Amino acid sequence: MSRVYDDERLAGVYQGGNEMPDASLRDWVHLIGSFAGRSSPAVVEIGAGTGMFCSAMARWLAPSGVVGVDASLPMLTQAQRLNSHPAVHYLAGTAEAVPTRSDLFDLAVLSRVIHHLPDRVRVARELARILKPGGVTVIRTTFRERLDARVYDYWPRLRELDEQRFPSQPEVLEDFAAAGFTARTVTSFARPVTASLRDYHARMRSQPQSKFTQLTVAEFREGLRRLQSDAQDEPTTCPVPVTERYDIAVLSSS
Ligand SMILES: C[S@@+](CC[C@H](N)C(=O)[O-])C[C@H]1O[C@@H](n2cnc3c(N)ncnc32)[C@H](O)[C@@H]1O
Repeated sequence: MSRVYDDERLAGVYQGGNEMPDASLRDWVHLIGSFAGRSSPAVVEIGAGTGMFCSAMARWLAPSGVVGVDASLPMLTQAQRLNSHPAVHYLAGTAEAVPTRSDLFDLAVLSRVIHHLPDRVRVARELARILKPGGVTVIRTTFRERLDARVYDYWPRLRELDEQRFPSQPEVLEDFAAAGFTARTVTSFARPVTASLRDYHARMRSQPQSKFTQLTVAEFREGLRRLQSDAQDEPTTCPVPVTERYDIAVLSSS
């Protein structure tokens, strides 16, 4: 299990460095919710982090309830602080052993967490256990073959490192098939995360993602210097939003 999020510093800067405008978050939530297959779904988010998606799903999907599970206590502390909602219940637990009873959820969401889960077959079996028959898992990630985020323009070594860490689409689909899931669709979706490169630079200064822990101080500074220079060159009168694209794999349990 990845323990990098037990770092209080990372948990403290995660939300500020990874949030997105409400319009983007709402579009994401509506896309994810469209796969639930029923109104008022019971939702679980595995690797819920600071709860950004949990509270957004509670606001915009009218779910019967949302359970946010995370292995990191510092992340869960931030989730309670920043994203509490009457319909959301946060639980300490792991993807490999979710601390809930079986046949409970219509929809399981795994956003930006699949690369932290080495035993995907075990995780998929656990998801099949907690989902109702016919329940749906939505995986939001960047598959290895499509690592094209803006962050790699400034820190190209992160792409090399992520090529080792992130699973490919066939690997994930195969592992979920081994646990009885059927792939319904795989698609990609992109939405702005910041209004300008200046805003993007401001958020990257805090190293808000676990991947940065792999860089040396000098490597991080060099990438940040180049990003700052590009951000300063951006005309303030016509800023260009920074967009992030993620792959979405939708899998039904039998
Ligand atoms: C990149 S964050 C994603 C947070 C949120 N889902 C999002 O999209 O912003 C990954 C989260 O997965 C959690 N995590 C990593 N391994 C886990 C595991 N085996 N079980 C449960 N959570 C895990 C980490 O603690 C962290 O909060």
